[in-house]
Amino acid sequence: MPDPYWYKDAIIYEAHVRAFFDSNNDGIGDFPGLTSKLDYLQGLGINALWLLPFYPSPLRDDGYDIADFEGIHPSYGTIQDFERFMDEAHKRGIRVITELVINHTSDQHPWFQASRRAPAGSPERDFYVWSETNQKYQGVRIIFTDTETSNWSWDDSAKAYYWHRFFHHQPDLNFDNPRVLDAVMKTMRFWIDRGVDGLRLDAVPYLIEREGTICENLEETHGILRQIRRALDARYGDRMLIAEANQWPADVRPYFGEGDECHMAFHFPLMPRMFMALRQEDRHPITEILRQTPDIPENCQWGLFLRNHDELTLEMVTDEERDYMYQAYAADPRMRINVGIRRRLAPLVDNSRRRIELLTSLLFSFPGTPVIYYGDEIGMGDNIYLGDRNGVRTPMQWAGDRNGGFSRADPARLYAPLIMDAVYGYQGINVEAQERAPYSLLNWMKRLIALRKQYKVFGRGTLEFLAAPNRKILAYVRRYEDELVLCVANLSRTVQPVELDLSAFKGMTPVELLGLTEFPRIGDLPYFLTLAGNGFYWFRLQQTPSAITAQRPPETTVAQEVVPDALPAFFMGVAWDTLLDGNVRTLIERESLAPFLQRQRWFGGKARTLRSARFVDWGVLRKGTHPIFVAIVQADYKDGGREQYFVPLAIVSGAEADAVLAGAPHLAVARVTGARKGLVVDGTADDRMAQALLEALDRQESFRTKRAAARMRRTSAYDAVRGQGALAPRRTGAEQSNTSIVLGDRLIVKLFRRVESAPNPDVEIGEQLTTRTTFRRAPRVAAYLEYEPSGEPIGHLLIAHEFVAAQKDGWNHALGCSGGERRSFTSPYRPIRLRRPSCRSRSRATTSRGWWRTRWRSSSRRASW
Ligand code: GLC
Ligand code: CA
Repeated sequence: MPDPYWYKDAIIYEAHVRAFFDSNNDGIGDFPGLTSKLDYLQGLGINALWLLPFYPSPLRDDGYDIADFEGIHPSYGTIQDFERFMDEAHKRGIRVITELVINHTSDQHPWFQASRRAPAGSPERDFYVWSETNQKYQGVRIIFTDTETSNWSWDDSAKAYYWHRFFHHQPDLNFDNPRVLDAVMKTMRFWIDRGVDGLRLDAVPYLIEREGTICENLEETHGILRQIRRALDARYGDRMLIAEANQWPADVRPYFGEGDECHMAFHFPLMPRMFMALRQEDRHPITEILRQTPDIPENCQWGLFLRNHDELTLEMVTDEERDYMYQAYAADPRMRINVGIRRRLAPLVDNSRRRIELLTSLLFSFPGTPVIYYGDEIGMGDNIYLGDRNGVRTPMQWAGDRNGGFSRADPARLYAPLIMDAVYGYQGINVEAQERAPYSLLNWMKRLIALRKQYKVFGRGTLEFLAAPNRKILAYVRRYEDELVLCVANLSRTVQPVELDLSAFKGMTPVELLGLTEFPRIGDLPYFLTLAGNGFYWFRLQQTPSAITAQRPPETTVAQEVVPDALPAFFMGVAWDTLLDGNVRTLIERESLAPFLQRQRWFGGKARTLRSARFVDWGVLRKGTHPIFVAIVQADYKDGGREQYFVPLAIVSGAEADAVLAGAPHLAVARVTGARKGLVVDGTADDRMAQALLEALDRQESFRTKRAAARMRRTSAYDAVRGQGALAPRRTGAEQSNTSIVLGDRLIVKLFRRVESAPNPDVEIGEQLTTRTTFRRAPRVAAYLEYEPSGEPIGHLLIAHEFVAAQKDGWNHALGCSGGERRSFTSPYRPIRLRRPSCRSRSRATTSRGWWRTRWRSSSRRASW
């Protein structure tokens, strides 16, 4: 029975045909050579093999520049050699993952050659992205910063520019042309029909281009991926797609879709943080990124790696982290390329066996499927004097013989020289020598791989960190069905003690897995361990009669004051308008929303115990570098009640962010870090929101949120009240149950914080009274924002009144009358107090007059005009 979830329990080995073994002594590895080494891979214990591109190619990007999607590069063999290799791999229980490079081709691909010669507007020309100018899609980043200066290159025969996200000899295919997708799907079927089990989708965020965007992660690109997935599932049951999307967690999450895009995606941001934690001897970089790693659908899996065929990319770290990584791991500028470090695992950790083992133990015990880069299992070195990323792609070191046993060709004929230095050279570091030494790295790797395969928990289980007081210690529990594993790692190079709170596992016995040693039973006291420098333990927690009690998440704490340094920071890519689209929204809900609400004057639930706060609706009011959002937050209380609040949000940065933290810190929700740094704030803290609201009023804008339609409505008084020209915004000092913004002393915009699914009496009565009668003793209603969630009655989110300047506002007036005492404040209103005889529950059918009465009691105090 084929297991559709095989990739969750896989251990993937990444190899290059050209670098593995040369069977015909021409200096280049080939398929017959790789086939002859399958026994080695089986002995290592891996069960999936990912092959770098082996298709016909001019090899200017080591084969990622493909000239024929359905062939084998002649140096590597024939299609028959490939088919034999597939059979032999499958016989040994090894699945095969190949590359589906769909973003671009080589400029030597016949499609491109036809495209550049075909007349503009013809179907052939339309296979690639052409333009008469090189000014389109300004602001899209360049990826290969060391070699390319533009994403456009001129083609003399087409007399036009073509688009390329990578090297200029790699034109991007045009996915707006459905024939391109058809051609790509045909290629996919070609390889899957030959038994390929998984496809790595190379450079997948860049498929579609749109003006005014960063041309990455676009919804249309996800649409293409869903079509590819549908085509795959329609024909084959147990094949897998893995996305290469070098993006922040929140931007990678959509590549899993609802389980209907890619089965797997690499976890790019985790990798550099493992190196960072090791060098800093502090677990924070790891716990922070894993805390921010979104949940993924049941049928999906993360791909984890320490090193691969590319540079150790530093695109998904902050500027400070990048500086740190360069200084710590790439002191010599030759070690750097593009935005990353071109080194292998062993040299990165100064050939420290303990550090290699520690990093590997983390790689193997974090949630996901680990990928081992060929040669790292024996601690191979690199050659930073070779160009591009070739220094980490040198021949596999099999033996101490000539050419490291890789080939019997003249050394000068090899596609690349072997590593020959005294520390990492093939004479000392090779498979043959390590197979003979029982305590070699290779034999240790075999033991760890075998161990990992015994437990499904590593590939499938949940992860909980334990808050050990010693930050040099990373401790976590993995759980899956009845498997329970405790991992403890010492990030420091010196011995460390740690006390772990294992009370949830009281009565159980930890059994260390590599040696099967029983440790003392877990009792009442904190569990005390010592770990050698860079040491780690994996313990199985053995069942004993006492039941396992699950740990409860901590109760939401009520933080009344905001400590700027303690505001949580969430990673995001450059495009901030996706703030609420996925993972970051969940993180805000989990970590910032409840404390934010508790800090707000307008939040009415302070006396009640909050069970949860979450976004129930959201939309983008203004896109751009500093976007503005409208959101509805629902507070659920322990007593069973619930309320909804209108919370517009904005993201500010630089001096504006500092000003909020200094002047109105309670308006800060969370920090944003990653590609850019910013502060998520209540929209009222950003003048841009006031401007956007005014524009929206002027234009009577309508917009859609996730669940509702929103419409700006103007009354007949609008033009007269608003007048002409710009109106400068000013927040009113008096923060009440609602929030008001004065616009140019002409309009006062009041945000109704409590959202009710019924018309707001201020709007209903106010408009009626001040624009349809001759009553002139109240400020005129100029506009309001209607909010209509699908299937529910219309409510209102804001009202704009005529601004009437006065000495003080109603609130202060009332306080003044009552000697500043809030308790006696109702007295001036007593003569007009309205009360409904009995209004324990207000039904939807309540008339607006009944409404008005009940509302008046509470809102009279809040009137802020
Ligand atoms: C992917 C590959 C990299 C290649 C690039 C362009 O990022 O991993 O090696 O250079 O795509 O094809
Ligand atoms: Ca060969």
